[in-house]
Amino acid sequence: MSAPAAERAPPFWIGAGWKMNKTRTEARAWCDALLASGATETSARLFVVPPFTALATVAERLAGSGVIVAAQNMHWEEAGAWTGEISAAMLRDCGATMVELGHSERRRNFSETDGTVALKTAAALRAGLLPLVCVGETAEERDEGVSDAALARQALAALGAGEGEVLFAYEPVWAIGTAGRVAEPAYVSDRCRALKRTLVERTGRRAQVLYGGSVDLPAGAALAAGPEVDGLFVGRAALDAEGFAGLVRAASKARQAATS
Ligand code: PGA
Repeated sequence: MSAPAAERAPPFWIGAGWKMNKTRTEARAWCDALLASGATETSARLFVVPPFTALATVAERLAGSGVIVAAQNMHWEEAGAWTGEISAAMLRDCGATMVELGHSERRRNFSETDGTVALKTAAALRAGLLPLVCVGETAEERDEGVSDAALARQALAALGAGEGEVLFAYEPVWAIGTAGRVAEPAYVSDRCRALKRTLVERTGRRAQVLYGGSVDLPAGAALAAGPEVDGLFVGRAALDAEGFAGLVRAASKARQAATS
């Protein structure tokens, strides 16, 4: 018998976003090292976001481990004349059950908008994929004091697209990548709290919000202790499986200590 809802703690998510990295051989080695590390035994709900070309390989390698496999993007149409694009059904066929949408690198470099992210979110929900929608303010928006408004605009557009669970990754644009710096835990907590409150007020829907942007081991453990942060989405620091495993262990421990 499953536990009553009140006793069931919501999951704490930790994901590895590979971006445009790893061949299938490298992907296999990463999966084997993660499995050997024992990190999949922690209480965190783990997910990995390989490039399209390694999805099936990773899904096969991690089958039965509980690690969720996600894609980095998808198209909103089911099929058709969209050269170079990938549909939700193709992702599911490769073993993905989750899809990352609207990363700021895609918004900036591939002209993705709140509108196209909303179309993709709706299509993912229709196809039974869990959407992980990335939202984040630019440095200019932060300096102008309009971060919460920017996050709300992006998240509301995605949520308005369809019914069903949508996860968000709060990724300040200024925190991502080699030129970025990890946001302070108190700042992250404030943004996550404000975003969740706005979503409940405006839509009646509760959503979990993960943090991403230059997460490394010490920062990840500090962020995981923040009650408003429902998970971590890790880029560079997750490319090395042992490094990711260490982060998973430290963050899971910090989370448990903070919530027990
Ligand atoms: P980073 O990437 O950890 O390398 O900054 C995070 C992300 O873009 O999700």
